[in-house]
Formats: sequence, C-alpha cells, structure tokens
Amino acid sequence: MRSRWRSVAAGALGLALLASACAGGGQDGGEGRVEVFSWWTGGGEEAGLNALIELFEDRNPDVEFVNATVAGGSGTNAQAVLDARLQSQDPPDSFQGHAGAELQDYIEAGYLQSLDDFFDEQGLRTALSDRLLEQITYEGSVYSVPLNIHRSNVLWYSPSVLEEAGIDGPPESLDELIEAMEAVRTGTDAVPLAVGEQWTVDHLLESVLLGSLGTEAYNALWEPGADWDTPEMAEALATFEDVLSYTQEGAADEDWQEAARRVPEGEAAFNIMGDWTVAYYDELGAIPNEDYAWAASPGTEGTYLWLSDSFTLPVDAPHEEHALAWLELVASQEGQDTFNPLKGSIPAREDAEAAHYADNPYLESALAEWRSDPQLAGSFWHGVTVGNRWKNDIDTAVGRYLRNGDLEALNAALHQAAQSG
Ligand code: GAL
Repeated sequence: MRSRWRSVAAGALGLALLASACAGGGQDGGEGRVEVFSWWTGGGEEAGLNALIELFEDRNPDVEFVNATVAGGSGTNAQAVLDARLQSQDPPDSFQGHAGAELQDYIEAGYLQSLDDFFDEQGLRTALSDRLLEQITYEGSVYSVPLNIHRSNVLWYSPSVLEEAGIDGPPESLDELIEAMEAVRTGTDAVPLAVGEQWTVDHLLESVLLGSLGTEAYNALWEPGADWDTPEMAEALATFEDVLSYTQEGAADEDWQEAARRVPEGEAAFNIMGDWTVAYYDELGAIPNEDYAWAASPGTEGTYLWLSDSFTLPVDAPHEEHALAWLELVASQEGQDTFNPLKGSIPAREDAEAAHYADNPYLESALAEWRSDPQLAGSFWHGVTVGNRWKNDIDTAVGRYLRNGDLEALNAALHQAAQSG
C-alpha cells in the first residue's frame, strides 16, 4: 500500500536553505538589532509571534527586530537550516526549540548558554511548575525559556459530518474511531481522517501509541533501550495501519493547515493535530462547537500529551544583550498572555491570567485541564522525549513504511531506533 507517499526530504531541505537566505540571517555587526529564529510563519503560526514582536519593539524602541523564520510546520525545514548555521558558527541571537530532549543535542555540542542566572533574576523557578522545570533541566542547569504549553493529542471533528454519518459523539477509543471512520466512509462523501505531509503522520503515530498502549507504557517507550518488539506494540502498529487506511489520497502534498481546514469546511470528519490548530481555525473564522469541535484523541482522555515552545541563548549570540531582552519578554506574564491566546496554546507560567483565555472555549478548557493536574505524556515528535537523532530515525522508518507498507519492518526499525537511543 501507500505508493502515493513519496520522499520530499531533499526538496524540503533545498527550500529551507533558500528560505534561510531570504530570512536575513547572519552577522552584520549591527549593534541595535536582534535576530530571532523560528518556524512561525503562515496560517495560525505567525499572529502570536507578530504580537510579541510588537511588544518587544515597544519596550526596545532602539532595537531592530529581525524575524528569521523558515516556513514548514513543526520546524521540519527550520531545523536543517538551524543546524547548518550552528555548525558554521553563525548563530541567531535566539532560536525556538522544544523544551525537553530536543535541546540536549545542542547543549552537548556546546551551542547553548546556560540560563541559570537569568532564571533566578526573572523569578522563573517559582513562576514555572516543578514538573516543567524538571523536564527542562539538564545536568542541573536550564538552557531555554518556555513560552507555552501545547497539546498534541487533540481530535478535531466536524459535528455536521458526524451527524450525517449517524455518529453520536466523538469516539473515545481507537476501536470506536475505526468504527466511526467506517460509518463516514460508507455514509458520506467526506474523508474519514485528514492527514497531511509526512510529519503529520509522525504526529498521528504518537496519539495512536498513547491511545493504544496507555500512558505508563507510552512513557516507558522513551527510556533508552526500551523494548518496542512486543505484542502490544505490534497491536498498536496494526491499529496505526488501520487508521491510516481512512486518510485521503494525495495527503503527502498537503501541509498541516490544508489537512486541518478540511474539518470546519465539512470535507473531513476528523483530524488529529496539535492545538495550534485552534489558532488557525480562529483565523479562518470557523465557529467552535459548530463548524468544529474537539476531544482528546481516542483512548487518551485524562492525559495531556504535551510539548512546549521555548527560546534559547546561543553561545556567541551576536547581540546578547538584546537576546536577553527578548528572553525577558518571552518569560514574562505579559509576553505569555499576549502570545498564547493567539497561538492556540496555554502559558508555561503558572501565574498567567485565565481571563485572557476565556474567549476561546478550546483554550479555556485546555487551561482548566492543565491546571487540574492531568497525567502527563511527552510528545516525541515535538521534542519532549527524544533528541533529534532518535526522532529522525523514527521519521525515516515511518517514511519507508508509507512507501512500502511493510508493518513488520516498521516495528523492527522503531525497535532498532530505541536501542540506539
Ligand atoms: C510544533 C510547534 C508549534 C507549532 C507546530 C506546527 O512543533 O511546537 O508551536 O508551530 O509545530 O508548526
């Protein structure tokens, strides 16, 4: 199966390098500037960043803000560009990275400065929860400032397509999801499950693993040397294969936004994507609980499959003083409460004002759930549980599977990746 999937990696890297050239990166020795690197551009991604830039410019009128973005959801293109820049000692003043294991490679390579003093000065050790601090501490030090908490395991669905297919409400287990998708396939013209380019399938995989294995077993997968060669994993991957058989033709050519918009437009029943989707839906003018609704991805109710966008201070950042001013804004209550309602995320700080999120029913419920101390699981695709090498091994295995449909080979490659992790 799956010959419709093809490798886009080489093309993506070429585009990414081109984008980097256009992004204005590089040192020019200019004193009054700060270059901040991210992949937040386009639908649902850039409004929050732009609002934060405006605040920065108000607070720092003499500093030119250079917005170095590289397009491509989940940083698939940006990370290649960033690696090339760090390797050639051309760091931006600050770059976006996921809190957790993803930053370890950069820390170990000596690319990042510790932010311990900054955390003390800004009171971040009390403003952030202990469990978040624990996740971002590496050998006793911290290296990035978390701006938000995103949720990966969200099932977005179209109430009207479900109604047409005779489905009462969102499926609560993976078996129910498959049943519901079958009803959509037979009873409507809609796509049962919209996905997009390859990384969105990696993203789907983490929700299916969590939904099939349960939180404890999912979390145990990320211990180095974990056993992925088990009957439970074989079953989870068989479910993954079933789920994928309900996706649309030509998905590999769609970015996450194109796949996600199929739900409020009534072209698809379901999409499993992170909660940055709600920012995009807002931009589209879609009406919550009418054009779209949401639930935990099937089998994961009660668990927050989390990730966090954070910003760093690279070694030899050309404009360190201004980079610290940027990080101060990222760390602040005002910065977080300005950015997050527009980004579809909740604040990393514990003291953020719930009122800022009350206009958006999704965000209101997400904040309440996060504050109710849910079970936690870390997103692997978005950098919480694994570093870049392990993540890339998983991505390569998934890409191969999408082209050759060999599920046993997928399981073996995932097991191998965990042994090398
Ligand atoms: C994630 C990132 C989010 C969002 C998403 C889609 O990796 O943490 O902030 O940008 O990718 O691009």
